[in-house]
Amino acid sequence: MKTTIHWGILGTGRIAEKFAMDLQHVNNAQLYAVGSRTMEQAKMFANKYNVPLAYGSYTELVADPNIDIIYIASPHVFHAEHTLLCLDAGKAVLCEKPFAMNASQVSTMIRKAKEKNLFLMEALWTRFLPTIRKTEELISSGAIGNIIQLQSDFGFKAVYDPQWRLFNKQLGGGSLLDIGIYPIFITLLLLGLPDEILSSAIIGPTGVDETMAAIFKYNNGIIASLSSTFMANTPCETIISGTEGSIRIHRMWHTPTYLTISKNNGTVEDIRFNYAGNGYEYEAQEVTNCLLKGLKESPLLPLHFSEKLISLLDTIRKQWNLEYN
Ligand SMILES: NC(=O)c1ccc[n+]([C@@H]2O[C@H](COP(=O)([O-])OP(=O)(O)OC[C@H]3O[C@@H](n4cnc5c(N)ncnc54)[C@H](OP(=O)(O)O)[C@@H]3O)[C@@H](O)[C@H]2O)c1
Repeated sequence: MKTTIHWGILGTGRIAEKFAMDLQHVNNAQLYAVGSRTMEQAKMFANKYNVPLAYGSYTELVADPNIDIIYIASPHVFHAEHTLLCLDAGKAVLCEKPFAMNASQVSTMIRKAKEKNLFLMEALWTRFLPTIRKTEELISSGAIGNIIQLQSDFGFKAVYDPQWRLFNKQLGGGSLLDIGIYPIFITLLLLGLPDEILSSAIIGPTGVDETMAAIFKYNNGIIASLSSTFMANTPCETIISGTEGSIRIHRMWHTPTYLTISKNNGTVEDIRFNYAGNGYEYEAQEVTNCLLKGLKESPLLPLHFSEKLISLLDTIRKQWNLEYN
């Protein structure tokens, strides 16, 4: 029986570095190989994070017979292509968010994973953090009564560079797909699909949304207000208000270490958590456990959730006529 899962990392950018650091906190997992578009970059990354094998191309990485799963850390526009490359080579996949550029690409990825009988998951790490799991538990236990409002934002002042992944349309730029996905994700997780969506965006000189806001309306009486921006530092909090009280997931709420629950009867409680790493260890542990159990998707973040998430992103973008090639 397999006891250690061998991980490969595809792409050596910012997020790949954080993920590599956090794999050391994961039980039954080994960071086994890294693949980059250049050998020089692959070797640099391998030396920095003690990775036994470095490959100078993604095709060589996926051909390594000893790798069980590949973490895809390339820009959004390559997620579908790289996921299919890995699945075709017989590797399980954990692919960064957004899962792909649109719902059609996501269905192709899911079809391929099913055809190959391989594990596939979107790397929506926030889903696995203890703070978010505690929030779900509090809500389902009725701690804040019936939810009436949800507010969630994610914004930071990015240094403007039209070539940078964040602003570059050819690389899938725009705040919605990069960070707006988090407020949309938490709303989908806690409230499900909305009955109505209203949204608007400020499209910058590179043709992508620099700022956006969306309202999700639910026929059972809930409104969610969601926003993202690359143009200003915003509170980066999620607040869920119900008939009996509210939960505030504090800044930076997508990687929160604490939340506060305030009840109408005047009680206020802070709940705190410590992480061993940057927080990516929770998703990596979930994936490792799923693979050891022979699962093809995670019960906590099933593929149908990612399908719904991308369909929301598609719907919102469509309201602004923002299309990517
Ligand atoms: N979960 C999170 O918290 C989180 C945080 C940040 C980003 N992300 C996601 O992770 C993905 C990567 O983001 P990042 O900030 O790490 O990006 P990044 O620093 O630009 O790194 C992306 C890497 O992808 C590879 N790549 C392949 N083709 C490329 C191309 N044509 N242009 C540029 N890079 C290319 C490169 O690695 P090689 O040169 O080694 O091939 C590059 O280092 C994005 O989809 C983003 O949404 C997630």
